Amino acid sequence: MRPKIIAGNWKMNLSEKEALALATGLKEKLPSRLGDKKAVVFPSSIHLASVARILENSPVSVGAQNIYPSPLTAMTGETGPDQLSELGIGFALVGHSERRQFLKETSVFCNQKISYLAKNGFTAIYCVGETLEEREAGKTFEVLSKQIQEGLGSIPSDIFPRIWVAYEPVWAIGTGKVASPAQAQEAHAFIRKEISGLFQNGKSIADTTPILYGGSVKADNVKELLGQPDIDGGLVGGASQKLDSFLALF
Ligand code: PGA
Repeated sequence: MRPKIIAGNWKMNLSEKEALALATGLKEKLPSRLGDKKAVVFPSSIHLASVARILENSPVSVGAQNIYPSPLTAMTGETGPDQLSELGIGFALVGHSERRQFLKETSVFCNQKISYLAKNGFTAIYCVGETLEEREAGKTFEVLSKQIQEGLGSIPSDIFPRIWVAYEPVWAIGTGKVASPAQAQEAHAFIRKEISGLFQNGKSIADTTPILYGGSVKADNVKELLGQPDIDGGLVGGASQKLDSFLALF
């Protein structure tokens, strides 16, 4: 059985005051609504330490939006997994479309990050998804296949349990346009099949890999999306950035 997960991506949207108030509100109000779901939040790196302190000993986990795949070293402007471990942080996003699009991050670089994270005990959430142009050109599955092969290829099966995937169609992120449950399910089933194909006897690995959907998830569509057989949760931007709309996802 795969867990149901709600992950909040706070991006660069919140001030420190807002991030700390949101974390405090979640610590107080989320436990009674959580049920058997898992919750993880991804604050901006500048707020990671203070948010992690607030959410320590709460059922809400904290993750980084990005990492540099190396131990403590000279790398100006980046954050390393060792620094996160010190704060008790064990999750990181990899390859979010905003980083792919604006910072030119490639799936090959994502592969280095995912493998480094998973080897060091982190859970890596690998984001994939097609642009509107690619979908309209009928290239959705080709794009997803390339992202999965390049991003997850050659990751050893023993560390694969520490990898989650997030399917985030770029045309649905922050646009209010959500993929229909059928469109999302189709893409998730395809991703699961691709993961299965990475290994000999890969079906059991694919069957236990959580695949989250991201792109305009809100209280009014979360239930139907999470009701699809291959959708194991949501990676939520906008609706996770305010206490009421975050709580309403549970
Ligand atoms: P959104 O963002 O929920 O605001 O569409 C999702 C994401 O980018 O992770």
